[in-house]
Amino acid sequence: MSMACYYLAAAAGLVLLLLLHAPLTDAQPLPWHRCNISSGNYTENSTYHANIRYLATSLPAYAASSRSLFVSSSGTPPDGIYALALCRGDTSVSSCASCVAAAIQSAQQHCPLIKTVTVYDDPCILRFSNEAFPISPPYTKGLFIAWNDRNVSAAATPAFEAAVLRLGNATADYASTDSVRRFATGEVGFGDDVTYPRIFSLAQCTPDMTATECRSCLGEIITRMIPQYFVGRLGGRVFGVRCNFRFETYPFIFGQTMLQLPVPSPSPAPPVTGALIFSL
Ligand SMILES: *[C@@H]1O[C@H](CO)[C@@H](O)[C@H](O)[C@H]1NC(C)=O
Ligand SMILES: *[C@@H]1O[C@H](CO)[C@@H](O)[C@H](O)[C@H]1NC(C)=O
Ligand SMILES: *[C@@H]1O[C@H](CO)[C@@H](O)[C@H](O)[C@H]1NC(C)=O
Ligand SMILES: *[C@@H]1O[C@H](CO)[C@@H](O)[C@H](O)[C@H]1NC(C)=O
Ligand SMILES: *[C@@H]1O[C@H](CO)[C@@H](O)[C@H](O)[C@H]1NC(C)=O
Repeated sequence: MSMACYYLAAAAGLVLLLLLHAPLTDAQPLPWHRCNISSGNYTENSTYHANIRYLATSLPAYAASSRSLFVSSSGTPPDGIYALALCRGDTSVSSCASCVAAAIQSAQQHCPLIKTVTVYDDPCILRFSNEAFPISPPYTKGLFIAWNDRNVSAAATPAFEAAVLRLGNATADYASTDSVRRFATGEVGFGDDVTYPRIFSLAQCTPDMTATECRSCLGEIITRMIPQYFVGRLGGRVFGVRCNFRFETYPFIFGQTMLQLPVPSPSPAPPVTGALIFSL
């Protein structure tokens, strides 16, 4: 697996490192695009092109008006198009629709005439292709991984790492059992660290996945990507078409988090081994 690192200015204004499998030419703000060049090209004004135009007029409203903020559609070969749009579970209907509409436009600008394109933006994910996109492992294929270049202190790193993993697992559990949106947000207190007192998380799968599929998709991210890329990092995010995960030390979530983990109890005070005898 050959990879290249790029700096990327995220919406939050922090510098992130972006790690991905497809080369980018320059520093890239969101949205991020994956143009699958080996999927082939369509020609201008072809039936396939007309199908993309149809998606542009229909998909945003379908995704936004769906209770799951998700839509997938499939056409008939040879010119049929398979499409999928998923909005963040805490996105408003209007920003869902405008994100999906913008993603379809930017897919065509960044990957002109390419048949299979994936767009990752903050409030939505879009993919269209001439091929069906089944739910199947390994879910880590074709991920975008980005992290905050700033770190917690070396001394705090092991506890921070453990807290991110614990929060990640709990958020993944919660998201996978949400039968409508397969979405969860969470937070955990990070001991008594006053610089980064809380960690916030988000996990989501496409709602056409079963609870088991969703949990294993998120499990691949959490158990493999966190230890590999996010140790000590102040934030990280993994975008996949089937599932995605993010954590930060600031509240990037709209509204209340769905899950609040208790602060881990401090290690027990050492037992009293001596005794003081007061004599007057
Ligand atoms: C890109 O397209 C080719 C041909 O359709 C397909 O075999 C391959 O799996 C696609 N790659 C990704 C990352 O979707
Ligand atoms: C595609 O259709 C548009 C609008 O009808 C037209 O302006 C354009 O020239 C066409 N492109 C090609 C390559 O035929
Ligand atoms: C497909 O389109 C891209 C531009 O999006 C272009 O660079 C490439 O040469 C085209 N490939 C073919 C086989 O026409
Ligand atoms: C954070 O830690 C990584 C790995 O130890 C290091 O490469 C990077 O320079 C650190 N970032 C900052 C801003 O010090
Ligand atoms: C997270 O879950 C994985 C299994 O999915 C488990 O191996 C790991 O110990 C858990 N970590 C924490 C900190 O709960």
